[in-house]
Amino acid sequence: MSVDEAPSTAVPDRELPAAVRRIGQVSWVREPLDDAVRNGGRGRRTVIAAPAVATLGTPADGEKFALLPEAREPGTVFMMGDNPDLPRFPLRPSLGDFFRLRFGGGSAAHLLQSAKLALEHGLNDKVIMACLLHDIAIAGLISSHHGHWGAQMIAPYVDEEVAWAVEKHEALRYFADESVGYSYPEAYIAYFGPDYEPPEYIRREAEDARKHRWYMTSRLVTINDVYSFDPAASVEFGEFEDIVGRNFRQPADGLGFDDSPVAHMWRTMIWPNNFL
Ligand SMILES: [Fe+2]
Ligand SMILES: [Fe+2]
Repeated sequence: MSVDEAPSTAVPDRELPAAVRRIGQVSWVREPLDDAVRNGGRGRRTVIAAPAVATLGTPADGEKFALLPEAREPGTVFMMGDNPDLPRFPLRPSLGDFFRLRFGGGSAAHLLQSAKLALEHGLNDKVIMACLLHDIAIAGLISSHHGHWGAQMIAPYVDEEVAWAVEKHEALRYFADESVGYSYPEAYIAYFGPDYEPPEYIRREAEDARKHRWYMTSRLVTINDVYSFDPAASVEFGEFEDIVGRNFRQPADGLGFDDSPVAHMWRTMIWPNNFL
């Protein structure tokens, strides 16, 4: 396949799910109409190339290179910086800003619901914080190995136990602990099929986590996780401002701009469409 040829063109259009057709048609090349007003009047077409991790193994694999000729068109550039289709961040972004400005599609609702359940169950701040943050990577960055990505993102700002619980919930989710009333999630049977077996490294990680002194903190995340997908529930981030204030070391320069080893992860969520 040449670099100019989009792999999606090799798949008959009718075989693509409607949602994928829509992505290909409207999300990647922004016409300048709105940008002309909102993007400093530059009035250029802006091309958004999806990152490899989002397209590998799909008909859109290779789109990034297939889009290169687009950038050679007059008045066309690759997206860098603010995408006018996303809400803009204030100068010093806070955790609440990420919940409000980036975590959509039910992700914020799920995190807030699970934290609220932990609160209602009278659990301590560390468990509530871990619940609030447990799927933060899915919400704004990446799904595969989300416990690990999430734990790294928050590590400089939370107690070590909170980051550990976020990391380990990923593996512990797959394994029942009937002694505390946790069964294998019904949802996973639907998501992955009844015959899905977690890989060996996940099994090992869960076994090690079970022997750890903080096991129950992470286990409680999994317990409050499974009941937190009610689309009718409405929980506001503001309900946790106090707990977040006590347990999340908000950097003075803002998340993404504090020169921490993970600042780039937060900036990636602010500018997810940067070409580089
Ligand atoms: Fe999770
Ligand atoms: Fe979750």
